[in-house]
Amino acid sequence: MHLRCIDTECAATLDLHDRGLGCPQCGELLEVVVDAISAAPDQLKRTWLQRKCSYDPRDASGVWRFREFLPNGYSEIVTLGEGNNPLVDGIRTSKWAGVGNLKFKHLGWNPSACFKDLGMTVGVTEAAFVGAQVVGCASTGNTAASLAAYAARAGLIAKVYLPAGQVSSNKLAQALDFGAEVVQVDGSFDLALDQLLHTTDRDLYFLNSINPFRLEGQKMVMFEMLEQLDWKAPDYVIVPGGNLGNSSAFGKALVELQSAGFLDRLPRLVVVQAEGANPLAQMWRSGSTECEPVESPETLATAIRIGNPRSWKKALRAVQHTDGFVMDVSDEEIAEAKAMIGRDGIGCEPASATTLAALRKLTDQRKIDRDAVVIAILTGHALKDTEFILRSLCPEPALQGVCCA
Ligand code: F0G
Repeated sequence: MHLRCIDTECAATLDLHDRGLGCPQCGELLEVVVDAISAAPDQLKRTWLQRKCSYDPRDASGVWRFREFLPNGYSEIVTLGEGNNPLVDGIRTSKWAGVGNLKFKHLGWNPSACFKDLGMTVGVTEAAFVGAQVVGCASTGNTAASLAAYAARAGLIAKVYLPAGQVSSNKLAQALDFGAEVVQVDGSFDLALDQLLHTTDRDLYFLNSINPFRLEGQKMVMFEMLEQLDWKAPDYVIVPGGNLGNSSAFGKALVELQSAGFLDRLPRLVVVQAEGANPLAQMWRSGSTECEPVESPETLATAIRIGNPRSWKKALRAVQHTDGFVMDVSDEEIAEAKAMIGRDGIGCEPASATTLAALRKLTDQRKIDRDAVVIAILTGHALKDTEFILRSLCPEPALQGVCCA
């Protein structure tokens, strides 16, 4: 396995464990190139299922269980037993959205209550392997919490750059609980990321999703989802889009599984952004070839309040390869969909509810058939943003008095 520049004309290659963040020749993003798999798909499918009965930490992880498709050479992995997240039927939500077959893949049911853990287990394993002492990220909150947890497990120092006044207190509390050093940035997530990228601290190992190892872990969401569907692709996979790492990872998984003979058809990937933070949706609608940043992104779904997504080229490639599309939804639509997911006894944070909001919009516009098989990805747990719930559902002063604060 090795690293390769995503620009097909450049296609520079680097050693797998090179610490570079971008291509040394053209500055584009890097990706891990997985070696051709020699085992037959049916045999690997059986092996992966058998591993679920094992207590070996590498088998118990819903990421490392699929390790034939992961970077290798590690003597130790940093894991918290991430993954193995069920597909949950949308009962009331499917009726509300106007489809017969809706399931949620709830990645909020992970150790730090967010999908970031699936990437961090690989990213922090790699950081420890290359001898990093300090790991860092800019974050709207969830990456910070997850990085802090995995860094703590590995005995590394975690530094997290957070946009002041824009992070839910639940996520900040997690980062603090796991011992992270918090740097407040006066500005947006995009500014925090710029600041971190220009940091002079050469010892800091960078763990935002432009780190290709993060995406290797997140890619396993598609492996696990397809295993749960007996390797029959659904019609649509709907995923929220912020910095666009997750959609990039899903696309990479689908390409790799298809070329290794695991799938005969692909699901269409639908990436959903919030209206006030929608650079990729704008690009998609306009047919432009460049993703123009949104200068002052605004949305109540603070996790995806991002104006300048770094992985847009990888995400666009994923959408195009799967014949998918990009769209956006309003904060009102997000809030309504989030409340519905709560009524289904599932719950999620606002950014995750973009998926159900998008589905309802698509069925209203007759862009998705009622009998389509749809998987909506829920990225974060309801308890990630309790202020949002209390603000929207607890208007009565009398009820607010129930809280101990
Ligand atoms: N959903 C949640 C709950 C998130 O926290 C994020 C990103 C996304 C969706 C979007 O994922 O960036 O891969 O497109 N949160 C990052 C953070 C930016 O810092 O926690 P993406």
